[in-house]
Amino acid sequence: MSFHDKVIYQIYPKSFQDSDGNGVGDLRGVIDRIPYLAELGPDMVWLSPFFVSPQRDNGYDVADYRAVDPTMGTIDDLQELIDGLAGHRIGVMFDMVFNHTSTEHEWFRRALAGEERFRDYYLIRPPAPDGGLPNNWESKFGGPAWSKFGDTGDYYLHLFDRTQADLNWRNPEVRQEMADIVNFWIGHGVTGFRFDVINLIGKEEQLRSSPKDVDPRVMYTDGEDVETYLRELHDASFGRLAERITVGEMSSTSIQACAGYSHPDNQELDMVFSFHHLKVDYPNGQKWALAPVKPDALKLKLHEWAEGMQTGGGWNALFLNNHDQPRSVCRFGDPAGYRAESATMLATITHLLRGTPFIYMGEEIGMTDPEYDSITDYADIEALNAYDELIRSGHSAAEAFRIVSARARDNARTPMQWDSSPGAGFTTGNAWLSPTNQDRINVATELSSGRIFRHYQRLIRLRHEIPDISAGSYRAWALEHPSVYAYLRDDVFVAGNLTSETTTLQIPEEFDHGEYLINNYPGPNYPPTSASLTLRPYEALALSKGETTS
Ligand code: GLC
Repeated sequence: MSFHDKVIYQIYPKSFQDSDGNGVGDLRGVIDRIPYLAELGPDMVWLSPFFVSPQRDNGYDVADYRAVDPTMGTIDDLQELIDGLAGHRIGVMFDMVFNHTSTEHEWFRRALAGEERFRDYYLIRPPAPDGGLPNNWESKFGGPAWSKFGDTGDYYLHLFDRTQADLNWRNPEVRQEMADIVNFWIGHGVTGFRFDVINLIGKEEQLRSSPKDVDPRVMYTDGEDVETYLRELHDASFGRLAERITVGEMSSTSIQACAGYSHPDNQELDMVFSFHHLKVDYPNGQKWALAPVKPDALKLKLHEWAEGMQTGGGWNALFLNNHDQPRSVCRFGDPAGYRAESATMLATITHLLRGTPFIYMGEEIGMTDPEYDSITDYADIEALNAYDELIRSGHSAAEAFRIVSARARDNARTPMQWDSSPGAGFTTGNAWLSPTNQDRINVATELSSGRIFRHYQRLIRLRHEIPDISAGSYRAWALEHPSVYAYLRDDVFVAGNLTSETTTLQIPEEFDHGEYLINNYPGPNYPPTSASLTLRPYEALALSKGETTS
């Protein structure tokens, strides 16, 4: 499976479809929705973790990598799902959370019980000479990255929640365990693998504090061993699959590092997720603070990565949404005035870039952030920690709520809205996280009278059918334009108006009288001419060269 002409659809199983009325999504629910997935037409479905887990981080805290969490279903359900999708030529991608395990994993429990072998699976250190924590690293969910290792007097490292203990990748046994897990799932017909925060596995050997005034993240991010470990994992597991797709999630990374991880000659991963384009509205890099987004900030970051990864010979995973990000239509579009236009514009400019597009469930019907009014409506540990921290640091409750509601990962995790019923067609019970606007935004309404879903279907077809889109080179056009993102993919021209103001753009001459491959307004009402192309609010289009030119 070459991956250049593929499109992947992400499902957060907890929020996609509940089949038994307990308010939590499950694998049988996903099985019930296979026809919907087949209608949309992606090549692969990425399932966020459904493995045995205490659910402190919704399954990103794995207690058993080879078993299905009972709340999600059984191994038979999983096999039925894999086979059912295969019947529609849709592959499955599993989410491998290999930087850390849950502290309820057997390995951690045996380490705590004093078994030396398993102690060496984790990063356990004595206190610093002054009795303080072993180093200055911080948890990405707030607070220090170290917690007491039972009553031993030592500490264990956790870059995320205290129940997510970081694994010691320097230990060859750990690396072998990871390869064995991948091979186990390959044996079940799985051909896609996403590796969670995988650029954190090569930590600085001595686990030292960062020098004064240096961000501790440099001590454990994109370390020099990451590539060695990835190559080893490739050779010991998925590398032997002729047909496969692998993607690594890269935290706080660089273009150079990502080109290395995804360069085909290196035999590591097929592609990478990076996040710089989704931090353009973080003032001074701060997630828990608000600032308006400049329309061209997103474009300039997308451009920088498209061009940089092309030059470096790497490959991007293309996305604006996932289970950790607020809905892109709320961030970069206009959900009140131009929901369909801005959702489809954002999709067009990302899908047609050089890379492999990912769609996050609900994006294809223009789902928005929920309209909650109390902090108790949120469930995510990261959001709740951030709220407490904002209050502690002197923000008013109203201000803290405003920040958290704009940034919370729960924005993406509300249930998939299938219809306008109280449970949104997601559940007959009480949803674990409430939907709020299913009366307006839902699959049934979208399929009968919307245009977002159809637009995504067309984008997927274009990726499949037009070689310039899957394999062409990337070149920006009119990069200085303040409100339009435009680029060429060889003989395809793409442009999107990032704002609600009508604007004009000069297009390359050879696209004079070009043909529309796609347009997000119902019917283009003017011929494209190089003199001046008018783009209405959030209008996006792609053109192929006209027949009159060669
Ligand atoms: C990744 C996941 C996120 C999770 C974190 C720790 O960033 O996408 O949901 O909380 O890793 O596993």
